[in-house]
Amino acid sequence: MKRTHHCNELRPAHIGQVVTLAGWVHSRRDLGGLIFIDVRDREGRTQTVFDPSCVPADVFERAGALRSECVVSITGKVRRRPEGTDNPKIATGEVEVLAQSLDVLNVADVLPFPVDDPEIASKVNEELRLKYRYLDLRRPEMSRNLRLRSRVATAIRVFMEEQGFLEVETPVLFKSTPEGAREFLVPNRREPGTFYALPQSPQQFKQMLMVAGVERYYQLARCFRDEDQRADRQLEFTQLDLEMSFVEREDIYRLVEGVLQRVWKVALDADIATPFKRISFEEAMNRYGIDKPDTRFEMELADFTEDFRASGFKVFKEAVANGGVVKALNAKGMASATQGQIETMTEYAKSFGARGLAYIKVEGGEWKSPIVKFFSDAEKSALATRLKIEEGDLILFAADQWLTACEILGKIRLYCADILKAAGKLVIPQDRFDFLWVVDFPLLSFDKEQNRWYSSHHPFTAPVPEDIPLLRTDPKKVRGQHYDIVVNGVELGGGSIRIHQPDVQKLVFEEVLRLPPETVQARFGYMLEAFRYGAPPHGGIALGFDRLLAILCGTPSIRDVIAFPKTAKGTDLMTDAPSSVDPKQLRELYIELKVPRKDKDS
Ligand code: AMO
Ligand code: AMP
Repeated sequence: MKRTHHCNELRPAHIGQVVTLAGWVHSRRDLGGLIFIDVRDREGRTQTVFDPSCVPADVFERAGALRSECVVSITGKVRRRPEGTDNPKIATGEVEVLAQSLDVLNVADVLPFPVDDPEIASKVNEELRLKYRYLDLRRPEMSRNLRLRSRVATAIRVFMEEQGFLEVETPVLFKSTPEGAREFLVPNRREPGTFYALPQSPQQFKQMLMVAGVERYYQLARCFRDEDQRADRQLEFTQLDLEMSFVEREDIYRLVEGVLQRVWKVALDADIATPFKRISFEEAMNRYGIDKPDTRFEMELADFTEDFRASGFKVFKEAVANGGVVKALNAKGMASATQGQIETMTEYAKSFGARGLAYIKVEGGEWKSPIVKFFSDAEKSALATRLKIEEGDLILFAADQWLTACEILGKIRLYCADILKAAGKLVIPQDRFDFLWVVDFPLLSFDKEQNRWYSSHHPFTAPVPEDIPLLRTDPKKVRGQHYDIVVNGVELGGGSIRIHQPDVQKLVFEEVLRLPPETVQARFGYMLEAFRYGAPPHGGIALGFDRLLAILCGTPSIRDVIAFPKTAKGTDLMTDAPSSVDPKQLRELYIELKVPRKDKDS
């Protein structure tokens, strides 16, 4: 019985036709002597009816014994549903199929969790969902995510082809370059003691493709990073990775805006406005305390350093005297926070290095705070004006070095926004997308413990040309030609114009990052050599493809848009990877374990 239609296809126009559907038993109801079976396939579902007066007794009996998720093929005649029984929630809701025959293609045991009820399914513990991922993916919500992922990937490929990009696959067995996140190593049997590493990104290969004259490369590339997993991080994830020759930053912005515009159109039928806003790293930190600001709400940070330079409140005065700043934000409507909630918030701030979290509650026309008694009228008036203080507000302060103070209040801003959202005091429309380019990052950051500079992003990022002389004299001031693309507070991607001159790249490696010349030669010698044979100026970017999909699907976790994700501990609960291996395999690799072998397989 070959299917004639899928389960989301039948409409009143089909009434009278004999059709065959195939799929899973989504639900079975026995009502008034009739049996109703909703058949579900990838496309949707259709109601079928078994009437004992229209089918042989054995067919009716088999229909009555069907359990959820059995695989069936049903042939019958399409008819209009009786008056008042339409189901406007489904596309096939005006019709039903009056069954004539039933083929049970496979039976199903009782499922570990139901897949037909979104209410229940959303409460199923995620470990169970991951263990039975093949069932979880049957849920219409998950199936929708997978299909959207495929559609978006296709839209991207079409767009990139239109723009003259070549899709090139780059190796997954790469070499170790321990600069960024921790990497996954793969032992090499052919030369015991040597290892491949899985790539954290195709960065070096895409640059070599530019030297190779490819000019425009892209790839939906799998990347591997052995870092702590969170809702927006997986050990392996996918990037839309691209690189272009003979370009400047503006060209990359335009290209990415174009691809996102196409994606939003295809996925959500939404038009997004371009060009996107731009903000410098410094401004992002000053106003939002984070380099990936969520600009859908205000609650901006304000600076009161000058106002408190000679303050009677010692904590603030000393912070300024030590070269620090005093910053504050106004959490509107949060004055009702209890002492306990303020203490929790203070502990939270301390976990990010805060020394305290001074506050003012504005309640009953009064500024309630242990510290206002130290404030002068001028200080109070500066606060009142610039933070637009009103009844019901909660003012929170951080006094510290600039970056620390910004970062603390940045965390507190998001923390307060979550509380306000939960209380219904802050409402952000679902269909609002605030895209933003964050630019002018410092090329280098200083590592106090190791007493050395390291790349804020990666060592291939080109400095802003006029800052190159500062590399030797004042590294802190060097701006990188790096850019991040941010949407609704999520870092969607990042990239840069690269260094293409061998002398500048060598200077960065050896004099700025202070890597020993032998190390540079061993790790990056081939790149420095490649740059000597006519490397074009080039730049690119990588967008987190899983994060992109999570945003489009409106889910907070990228696990919901990855077919087979890993848990926070890095386990695939369905296959039980990673697992121990046969001692023979280890012997072949000359690997001896210093930990007892885990025999979870046997
Ligand atoms: P970067 O390291 O910023 O840049 O990565 C680019 C984007 O990839 C996504 N991403 C992740 N997604 C899921 N899980 C992870 N563990 C994870 N790590 C990163 C993010 C991030 O913005 N080679 C450079 C790009 C370039 O310079 O062209 C790179 O990989 O969305
Ligand atoms: P103290 O004088 O240390 O008792 O602090 C008074 C108030 O200022 C308390 O609410 C502290 O949490 C807060 N506080 C202390 N240090 C800082 C700081 N560096 N930045 C912001 N608030 C602080």
